[in-house]
Amino acid sequence: MNLFRTKSIEQTILEGDEPEYQLKKKLTALDLTVFGVGVVIGAGIFTVAGRAAHELAGPAIIVSFIVAALCCGLAALCYAEFASSIPVSGSAYTFSYASLGEIIAWIIGWDLLLELMLGASVVAQGWSAYLGVFLGQLGITIPEGIAYGSSFDLPAFVLVALLTLLVSVGIKESMRVNMALVALKVFIVVFVIIAGLSYVKTSNYTPFIPDAVPAEAKGAWKAPLIETIFGLSPTAFGVTGIFAGASLVFFAYIGFDVVATTAEEAKNPGRDLPRGIIGSLIICTILYCAVALVMTGMVRYDQLSSEASLAKVFTDVGRPGYATLISAGAVAGLTTVVMTLLIGASRVIFAMSRDWLLPPSFGKVNHKTGTPVRITVAIGTLIAFVAAFTPVGELEYMINIGTLSAFFLVSIAVPVLRKRRPDFPRAFTVPLSPWLPILSALICGYLMLTLPLETWVRFLIWLVIGFGIYFAYGYHRSRLARDPDYGERVIAEARAKSAQEE
Ligand code: ALA
Repeated sequence: MNLFRTKSIEQTILEGDEPEYQLKKKLTALDLTVFGVGVVIGAGIFTVAGRAAHELAGPAIIVSFIVAALCCGLAALCYAEFASSIPVSGSAYTFSYASLGEIIAWIIGWDLLLELMLGASVVAQGWSAYLGVFLGQLGITIPEGIAYGSSFDLPAFVLVALLTLLVSVGIKESMRVNMALVALKVFIVVFVIIAGLSYVKTSNYTPFIPDAVPAEAKGAWKAPLIETIFGLSPTAFGVTGIFAGASLVFFAYIGFDVVATTAEEAKNPGRDLPRGIIGSLIICTILYCAVALVMTGMVRYDQLSSEASLAKVFTDVGRPGYATLISAGAVAGLTTVVMTLLIGASRVIFAMSRDWLLPPSFGKVNHKTGTPVRITVAIGTLIAFVAAFTPVGELEYMINIGTLSAFFLVSIAVPVLRKRRPDFPRAFTVPLSPWLPILSALICGYLMLTLPLETWVRFLIWLVIGFGIYFAYGYHRSRLARDPDYGERVIAEARAKSAQEE
C-alpha cells in the first residue's frame, strides 16, 4: 500500500497545460490582491470583532488581531513560497501532493473544502442577517418564515444561487463584479475609521487589558481543548483573553489562502501570487487594527453589541444614518466573501478531479466560459441548500479548525519540499526556513488547541468521512495509482519540452 505516493512538480505543472483541464490565465497582481481583500474582509470585522472585544479581550482586542495576523502572516509566507513554485490550481492541496504525498494531500483538500464550503454557507447566512437589518432600517420587513434564522433562509439561498451563476459565466467577469464590491466594502471600512475617530474617548481605553475574570462554566464539551487537557479553570479577559480573542478573530483573516487556489489563472504566478497573498493580508491587518481601535474607543468594551457591532456603535453615539450606510456596506461586503469562497471550493475540487481522486469528468472546463462549470454548479447548489436549511451559526469554529489544520500542514510541507527538491526554482522563498515554517506550525497547532472539544470531535468525524471516500474511490482510481509510469513519462516530456524551448 503506498499512501504517500508523491506527484513530481514537473508533472503537477504540466497537468495544468492539458487543454481539457486548462483554466484561462488572466489575473494580474492587482486582481489577486483585490480577490484576497474581497474574501478576507467580511463577517469577521463586521460582527465577530465586537463580540470578541465584549466577551474576551476588551480594548486589547487590537493585540488579538495582531497575534492572529502574525499566525496568518507566517502561514502566508509558506503559501507564497509554494504558490510561486507550483503555480497550479488547488492551493495547499496541490502543494502537499508534490511534497507530502497523496494521502496528506487528500486530507488537506478535504479540510479546505470544509473551510470553503462551510465558510460560504455561514457568511451567506450572515449576509441574510445584515440584509434583514438594512431593510428593517428602511421600513421593509422580510416575512418571518423565509427570513434569516427561520427554517428556510430564502435570501441566503438566492444569494448563493445568483453567485453560482455569475462564477460559472467566467472568472474575469466575476472579478469585475468583485472589484466594484470590494471597493465599496473598503470604502465603508475606511468610513468607519474616519467617521468614528471624532467619537473616540480615550477613557474607554482604560483598562486596556481588563482583569481576568472566571468565565461561565460551559462544560468540557464546549471548553477549549487545552483547558480540558491541563485541567485549567476557564477565564475571560486578562492575557489569556487576548489569545482566546485571537483564535476567534482568526476567522476575520480566513480567505487570503484562497488567492493561492487561483494560481493557474494568474498571468505571472511566480511574481504575482506572493504579492497578492501578502499584499491582501497587510491591507486587511492595517484596516482591522484601525477599526478595532476606533470601535473600542467609541463605546466601552462592556457595552459593545455582540451582533452587527460596527453598525451598532454608530447608533450608540447618535448616528443612526451612519449605521444604515454601514449595514448596506456589510451586505455588499459579505457578497464578495461568499463569491470568493465559492470560487475557491470549486478550484480545490477541480484539482482533485484532475488527479482522478474524484471522478475526472467532473473537472472538465467548459470551452466557452473557461471555467469548471459542472463543479461550480454542484458546489453552489450544495452551499445554497446548507445555507438555507442548516443552523450553521454554531459551526464557525469548524471553519477555523479546517483552515488551521491546512496551514499547519502547509507550514510543515515547506522544509520537506526544500529537502526533497533543493534544485527546484522558487520565485519566492520563506526567510529563515526551517525555523519560520516550524514556528508557523506551532502557532497554528496552539490555536487549534484553544478550540472546543466539540469542534475537535466534529472535525474528526469529517476526517473519517473523507478517509472513507478516499479508500472507497480515490486510492484505487487516482491517476498515480492507475498509471505508475505516468509520473516518469510526464517528467521526460517536460524535460524534452523545456530543452526544445531553450
Ligand atoms: N474572513 C472572512 C470573514 O471575515 C471569512 O467573513
